[in-house]
Amino acid sequence: MLRRQMIASAAAALLAVGFAAGAQAQEAVKIGLILPMTGPFASTGRQIEAAARLYMAQHGTTVAGKRVELIVRDDTGTPDVTRRIAQELLVNDKISVLAGFGLTPLAFATAPLATQAKVPMIVMAAATAAITEQSPFIVRASFTLPQATQPMADWATHNGLKRVASLVTDYAPGIDAEKAFKERFARDGREVVADVRVPLRNPDFAPFLQRVADLKPDALFVFVPSGVGAQFMKQFQERGLDKSGVKLIGTGDLTDDDILNEMGDVALGVVTTHHYSAANPSAANKAFVAAYKAANKGARPNFMGVGGYDGMHLVYEALKKTGGSADGTRMVDAMKGMSWTSPRGPVTVDPKTRELTQNIYVRRVEKVDGQLYNVEFATFQAVSDPAKAR
Ligand code: PHB
Repeated sequence: MLRRQMIASAAAALLAVGFAAGAQAQEAVKIGLILPMTGPFASTGRQIEAAARLYMAQHGTTVAGKRVELIVRDDTGTPDVTRRIAQELLVNDKISVLAGFGLTPLAFATAPLATQAKVPMIVMAAATAAITEQSPFIVRASFTLPQATQPMADWATHNGLKRVASLVTDYAPGIDAEKAFKERFARDGREVVADVRVPLRNPDFAPFLQRVADLKPDALFVFVPSGVGAQFMKQFQERGLDKSGVKLIGTGDLTDDDILNEMGDVALGVVTTHHYSAANPSAANKAFVAAYKAANKGARPNFMGVGGYDGMHLVYEALKKTGGSADGTRMVDAMKGMSWTSPRGPVTVDPKTRELTQNIYVRRVEKVDGQLYNVEFATFQAVSDPAKAR
């Protein structure tokens, strides 16, 4: 009797252990991916979600014995909605990672929650330099505006441009771009002859473009966020500025791969600086572009897509380094100093700033096989965020 009881309880204990081990393997690491999926910045959400799903399809959904699960939510591009969704995902869904953040105000609104919850917050898009200073749990997989802009100012300087007008969208990343360009360019007889800011919502470029036509600068430097470039180019052409001899330069946000081909020949010759072009000729990028196109009805990835793809890489590799622990502090520590070959080129997470050190390429819009592309022709190697060097 006693013996039978002992066997039964041993079996029960074994069962319990087995059950616990099974539960452990099944315990998911949930990533809350919060993105603008509707509204004027929906292209950012579409790109990042598609690239994150591609990464998971290529690398599997089990990492270091843990099942990785993606929960995608639409923030509509509104800070209050983003913060509410982040709160719900943390409290109800018990997510281990916050990710996404298509616009700077959305990242700012969520940063305090990442600190409180001690959860990594992977910024895949938003690019104002100060974002990573809002929480020690933020790691950025995109870029910063000063990082992309300073090389543009250097290129303009070395190419003999003297009088440049500046046009940026009137919110934090635009101010970053305007300031970085001016500080770097306006020296030794070079000047920024006008600096204008246009609203984020429903921008009208016409009044400013008229002023540019009158001022006749050597070039016009532009920052508009991803998705807005097509509207700008249309008005640039309507005002006849494409035939006025004013050279168009900017950060690569202007000639965003997602909309570049729709801009038409007016975009030919526009020179921009950025960290990613779908035309980057590396093997890693060719494979990425082909896989992205195959999974998305032939659509081309843009710099937002690559931010989503690399953001997932950060999470997967951090989990491998922690042996599957999703502890926020351990994951962020694991990300610091991480290096890999991204489709954009070689990248490293600067352990001090949690920003990517990466190449910034100078590109010119050209036709390749009948399609418009940002063709890279010069490289500023391993650029870190200059805003944090001060
Ligand atoms: C931003 O809001 O930080 C942002 C959005 C789109 C861009 C660049 C920056 O292309």
